[in-house]
Amino acid sequence: MRTPFVAGNWKMNKTISETRELVTALTLKLKEIGGVEKVLCPPFISLAAAAALLEGSGIGLGAQNMHWEEKGAYTGEVAPAMVKELCGYVILGHSERRAYFSESDEIVNRKLHAAQKVNLTPIVCVGETLEQYESNQTREVVSRQTSQGLKGVTSEFAPQIVVAYEPVWAIGTGKASTGEAANVVVRDFIRPAIAELYGQQTAQAIRVLYGGSVTGANAEEFFSQPDIDGALVGGASLKVDDFYAITKAAAR
Ligand code: 13P
Repeated sequence: MRTPFVAGNWKMNKTISETRELVTALTLKLKEIGGVEKVLCPPFISLAAAAALLEGSGIGLGAQNMHWEEKGAYTGEVAPAMVKELCGYVILGHSERRAYFSESDEIVNRKLHAAQKVNLTPIVCVGETLEQYESNQTREVVSRQTSQGLKGVTSEFAPQIVVAYEPVWAIGTGKASTGEAANVVVRDFIRPAIAELYGQQTAQAIRVLYGGSVTGANAEEFFSQPDIDGALVGGASLKVDDFYAITKAAAR
């Protein structure tokens, strides 16, 4: 049995003081919901403030990115051990990082290995662009991102990885995929690529999330699918009632 998983990717939203407000409100609302792993991912600069407020709340904290090197002359970057002091999770290879910051599968894979080194739970994002979707390349793109991005970690660490299937055309557009279509991608492309790397048992143990215009209204459609274990939520994670509704749906 895979424990349901819901993470909020705040992206580049909320100042430190706004983070305090939102985390406080979310903590109060979410504490009654059990049986689901809950994670908030605010910007780096707010992680310390969020960590202090989340202590003992049962809600985890994640970073949205990190560098792969341990330390050194990388101006503006944040190292794995720095993230680890505050967080249990890290989002890797989000499509916005791939599109705007040239993150390749190879870079994502280096970051995954860095996460293994400090024992951070990685949330690895995969997903095809609109152009790739329209030219029927979903299988090829998602399989490649999964096998290249996830390769080479130990068989002990692999089951800890969380994968998020986020079709780029569904992100921030209000045009979510359907539960059925997303389930096909997870069942037929993502889990088989994982099975090729780590075997069937690990492929069945890894949580795979859906992301892309998830709301309180459509969450249930995705969570009722057998291969989808939760959601990586963008816009709706900034709204207390929406994120509560999504988390509640995942717990069912
Ligand atoms: P939206 O939920 O805003 O579409 O964003 C999804 C996403 O990119 C989460 O990582």
